[in-house]
Amino acid sequence: MEISHEPQRLHAQRRALTSAALSVSYATSAPLVIIRGTGCYLIDHAGQAYLDTRNNVPHLGHCHPAVVRAVQQQVATLNTNSRYLHPTYNDLCQRLLTTLPPALRDQYVVFLVNSGSEANDLALRLARAHTGAQHVAVLDHAYHGNTTATLELSPYKFLHPRYSALGQPSPPTHTHVLPVPSAARPGDPTRADPLRPLRHLCDQYDRQLAALFVESGMSVASVILPPPHYFQAAFAAVRAAGGLCVCDEVQTGLGRTGAWYAFEWADVTPDIITLGKPMGNGMPLAAVLCHRDIGATLARGPEYFNTFGGNTVSCAAGLAVLETLEADNLLAHATRVGAHLMSCLCKLQASLAQQHPELPCHIGDVRGRGLFVGVEFVTHIQHPTPATQAASHLCTQLRLQHHILTSLDGPHDNVMVIKPPMCFGIREANQLVRALRAELLAMPVDLTGVAPTPT
Ligand SMILES: Cc1ncc(COP(=O)(O)O)c(C=O)c1O
Repeated sequence: MEISHEPQRLHAQRRALTSAALSVSYATSAPLVIIRGTGCYLIDHAGQAYLDTRNNVPHLGHCHPAVVRAVQQQVATLNTNSRYLHPTYNDLCQRLLTTLPPALRDQYVVFLVNSGSEANDLALRLARAHTGAQHVAVLDHAYHGNTTATLELSPYKFLHPRYSALGQPSPPTHTHVLPVPSAARPGDPTRADPLRPLRHLCDQYDRQLAALFVESGMSVASVILPPPHYFQAAFAAVRAAGGLCVCDEVQTGLGRTGAWYAFEWADVTPDIITLGKPMGNGMPLAAVLCHRDIGATLARGPEYFNTFGGNTVSCAAGLAVLETLEADNLLAHATRVGAHLMSCLCKLQASLAQQHPELPCHIGDVRGRGLFVGVEFVTHIQHPTPATQAASHLCTQLRLQHHILTSLDGPHDNVMVIKPPMCFGIREANQLVRALRAELLAMPVDLTGVAPTPT
């Protein structure tokens, strides 16, 4: 078959060549063929540029010149595994450790791996090896990866209605799901004391709990940041039961929230930190950072070998990412632009509620920190219910009418999760808010027959 460049044909060919389990954005409206990227823009086969508000992997920006240069130079010189010594490998590990809070820098060690899933998989193995325990606590709606072990840490997947088709028990035997603390609704018994289920679990599984896994800022759950003191109290309870505390920073790490790590906002010290997506600006690179005593446990078992983990080219990319984050002061940039974006979104929320209460879709909530922002869409301002269909229509219109790429997440798929490349600026924030305003004002009352947009 001759491979096409025409979107619909390419989509049909993709479906013939691979499994329908792999989804394609905008499949029902007009799938995109993206052939180039620059900064926070993606460019399709016809030369149309799209503002990218959703890709957090090209952390500095698509095809950032510093990363391109570093990768080109390294791939033309050497790319091999970590069995041989190489200064770039050490340099990256050293620099990564300097991003940690000062008290941890000398105490932690690094494992370089290829993906966030691999990092969490290794974190689970480390926690079990170190504690000798098997049970794991996770937050509802969390996602920690696509491997068999990390799916079992991910209620987002194992509580999905179609998970049973995989023939696996749900919940998995050793996994315990805790309510999302800030999602507690009036009447929910966890509202008064969101820690009660965790304390109960710790009593029940004392010395049998290997770890609590948390995303320091939950992403697919729809940008949920823990309420003040929740992590502090949760970590204390888990440690008292003999377990370790793992912070998954795959989405939030390396400055997205304006601090190197989102756990810093909660003023806690994790025992294990996992990193992924932003580390290599698109090159496969991820990491586990943990206390050296925990890292040493693994050395008691068989050799840990990872063919591609810490390969020379990915390390060169990772180093360029860390250098550029510092040189361009991108953490402060994320704080500044994120605050501006959230303020504009809150103003839009208020003005639509006051001036156009009759609209079929409103902004229910704006939350987040830095360039990690969630915008919830609801049907009514007085009696809010999730505006799932309207949110989906909104995303389609943003892509078709305004050339802006967005994504929806959360239990009701009604929260726009904004996590753009870190070069996203005030201009782009304003462009997004203007387009949102226009499309909310133009939202049809009757959305019957409007196809959902899987994103
Ligand atoms: C919080 C979190 N952890 C882990 C992963 C898995 O990372 P990867 O897809 O690189 O394996 C993801 C991916 O979306 C994630 O959002």
